[in-house]
Amino acid sequence: MSTERILSLIGALPVPVLVIGPDDRIRATNAALEALLGSGLIGKHHITALRQPAVIDAIAAVRKSGTTASVRFVNRERDKDNVYQVVVALADPDVVLSFEDQTAAEDIGKMRRDFVANVSHELRTPLTALLGFIETLSGAARDDAVARARFLGIMAHEANRMTRLVDELLTLSRVEEEERVRPRDQVDLGALLASVIKGLEPQAAAADVTVDLVLKANPLYVIGDAGQLTQVFSNLVENGIKYGASGKVLVVTLEEPANHLRLRGQGVQISVADKGDGIAAHHIARLTERFYRVDSHRSREVGGTGLGLAIVKHIINRHRGRLLIESELGQGTTVSVYLPMASLS
Ligand SMILES: Nc1ncnc2c1ncn2[C@@H]1O[C@H](COP(=O)(O)OP(=O)(O)OP(=O)(O)O)[C@@H](O)[C@H]1O
Ligand SMILES: [Mg+2]
Repeated sequence: MSTERILSLIGALPVPVLVIGPDDRIRATNAALEALLGSGLIGKHHITALRQPAVIDAIAAVRKSGTTASVRFVNRERDKDNVYQVVVALADPDVVLSFEDQTAAEDIGKMRRDFVANVSHELRTPLTALLGFIETLSGAARDDAVARARFLGIMAHEANRMTRLVDELLTLSRVEEEERVRPRDQVDLGALLASVIKGLEPQAAAADVTVDLVLKANPLYVIGDAGQLTQVFSNLVENGIKYGASGKVLVVTLEEPANHLRLRGQGVQISVADKGDGIAAHHIARLTERFYRVDSHRSREVGGTGLGLAIVKHIINRHRGRLLIESELGQGTTVSVYLPMASLS
């Protein structure tokens, strides 16, 4: 086959392909391969272009045996290692290499491992505490009524935290599962926000935070999942209470419907604004990651698992909405949820 014909055939393929001629020099490449290894490779010895011993050995082995081989190829792209599985096959007298990008699959694998490690870690801490107290209560503090009452209090706190963690994990997987299913309830946003705030009254009182609700439009209906939207605003208001400053006001505002660029159309904005310490800019983009906490010690103390905003993000995605977190250190944080009106139809 002429080199022109080979070039035109492999040019039509989306995966990086490299053809090595019988003289061990590169005979043809396609655009995807040039994006990977650079251009101007044709005519060069394949060792210069590929460099990695495993691939070079595989080429020699395939030439000798005629059987196909598959090897791992790691390519440093910008500041990240991308991983490819390279299939080396003989197409006598040439050898053809095709590269399959494994990076996404490896990333997912890593995410899964990180997730399991995080969950285990989050559960192990309270479990260790519980076991310690059980040991103390059955030994040294057996007859000490004061210590017993105190330890039981701490044990209840730790057990509650574990329950909450498990509940949130279940919620997260349910929300992920339903992410592609359109919500269908008619939701009265003003009433929903009022009931969320009412539910958190005891917590607000304990933290000495006053929650104000400002409804610029009422009633205002959207099509949504009432239970999930309740979860979104419960977490945002709860965060405002937990991480906002005590003794201050937390303002929840339901704005009038307007055209929002973020939604590319009509939508409503609900914002939760606190006067707390604020969040440093480099943390903000990561807050919706699972288990991400700015100050994990403080968050644990107030019973947080770091899953709240991850759940919020998934629910808002399901509603085709947007989440915006704005914060200034020392000034406070405003978290806004934008929900499209288009989902009304
Ligand atoms: N209003 C806020 N002001 C300052 N920091 C905040 C605010 N809201 C969230 N954060 C930070 O973001 C982190 C993640 O919040 P998220 O709601 O996901 O988890 P959490 O509140 O710690 O736990 P959970 O919601 O699962 O009980 C918090 O731990 C906190 O560090
Ligand atoms: Mg939270």
